Amino acid sequence: MAWWDGAVGYEIYLRSYTDSDGDGTGDLPGVTSRLDHLADLGVDLLWITPAYPSPGHDHGYDVSDYTRVADVFGGDEALDVLLEQAHARGLRVIMDIVPNHCSSEHPWFQRALEDPTAPERGFFHFVDGLGEHGEQPPNNWVSHFGGTAWTRDPDSGQWWLHLFLPEQPDLNWDNPAVRDAFDEVLVGWFARGVDGFRIDVAHALVKDSHLRDNDWPDPLPDVANPLDLFNSLPHTFDLDQPGVTDIYERWHALAARHDAHLVGEVYLLEPSLLERYVADGRLHRSFYFNALRTGWDIAELRPMVHAGVTHGRGRFAWPMGSHDNDRAATRFGGGEVGRRRQSAYLALLCALPGTPYLYQGDEFGLENGVLPPGAAQDPVAVNNPGATGRDGTRTPIVWDDTPGRGFTSGTPWLPFGMNHGTWVTPAVQRGDTEAALERTRELLHTRRGCATMLATNEVTWMDVADTIAFRRGDVVVACNVGGPPTKVPVPDGDLIHATGDGVVIGDGVVVVPMDTTIWWRA
Ligand code: NOJ
Repeated sequence: MAWWDGAVGYEIYLRSYTDSDGDGTGDLPGVTSRLDHLADLGVDLLWITPAYPSPGHDHGYDVSDYTRVADVFGGDEALDVLLEQAHARGLRVIMDIVPNHCSSEHPWFQRALEDPTAPERGFFHFVDGLGEHGEQPPNNWVSHFGGTAWTRDPDSGQWWLHLFLPEQPDLNWDNPAVRDAFDEVLVGWFARGVDGFRIDVAHALVKDSHLRDNDWPDPLPDVANPLDLFNSLPHTFDLDQPGVTDIYERWHALAARHDAHLVGEVYLLEPSLLERYVADGRLHRSFYFNALRTGWDIAELRPMVHAGVTHGRGRFAWPMGSHDNDRAATRFGGGEVGRRRQSAYLALLCALPGTPYLYQGDEFGLENGVLPPGAAQDPVAVNNPGATGRDGTRTPIVWDDTPGRGFTSGTPWLPFGMNHGTWVTPAVQRGDTEAALERTRELLHTRRGCATMLATNEVTWMDVADTIAFRRGDVVVACNVGGPPTKVPVPDGDLIHATGDGVVIGDGVVVVPMDTTIWWRA
């Protein structure tokens, strides 16, 4: 068994976790100060969002140096301390690698702009435009963040490709020098003790070699949020191109030498496409994004879970939420109802083959923050009037109700965004066995004790109305998604976890109340 088999993941959106020095931005020493919380909670694998130097146009996903930790996040020494202290507690730490694009301030791009004959020019997609004077973009591709995916270099007249902001030029992965450069980056971090990588936009690295137009209507539909527009279009030539998985075969070999883990942000919603990325010798895991898009609706949830189990064969990672998507408690209705459903959902995901991922704050039922007008920072919102950006899910963690909320002694980079007129904090919940935090802790520790369940990826589905019910190993799991109390047949055994009150144990059955998940061990 690899160390990541059976692990529970936890995403840390670094700038919003804990700020150790009062500058208002979360940093690595801040993460180190929370390691006891995390170890006690029972997660195993921390994914930390980009900590590299960056001008911050996309909050760190525009990297200007892949080989260092930025001073604002504590510098290289802070990472060494974090790794040492995390490892001492049995926690693993994976970093975020952003290989699809770098920052326009990266020396590679600066050289490429300065001198079109420099080798670095070939690190990017610089091409002539269409029209008599090359004044039109080379094709019809659009950026995730709105508008054309091309920006013209005024000096040479050529255009560069960027599937995100113009300040995030796409790298050309057909160029062997790019592949070599990233090998070096990865190995450098492995050698420093990093336990692996979450790979940003892992499905987009390779582009159609002729940069052909996608077959899209002209004009494109008018959709306020450019991410929604992007995700609604077919991506025949810009995403998931032949050969992209070869990169991960190469990375797999590098990772294997360091016992390191690779999990991809492969944003493909069709599970049969996604599973190719986790074939033997490629990525160890791939995020299954349907899990963080679903509503609380059995008709939607059941097929999503079944497909993820069938296609994932234990190699999909199941995210609850993320820094790009609404928090689960918010998505499921908010308030007490949303929190109850979120707990039930977490207990469901934790029982499925593969890797469940909490997003920071999920452990105590945090909802999206509500921001005052004008507070938006996300380029999706700032550049696209009428679009809701991703700031609501990125608000700083509210650890307690001191003035800086345990997050900072200064002014937070983004407001906390109180929701429902109260602070939901771990400080209030600690020690209260009814509270989300303690239930999550109990769930994760119970899960660790379920060795027989974790040892198998085989699931036997049970047919129970309104309920996702199955047996995995010696554990029966049932999640009632919005239905009246349902009777779930169980073998001789014990109730080992319930996400809410009101569970009734009968003769050979357990009655599971609405919006509740139970675990029963034979
Ligand atoms: C996915 C990241 O999660 C998101 O935050 C970022 O904006 C894009 N990739 C571009 O790097």
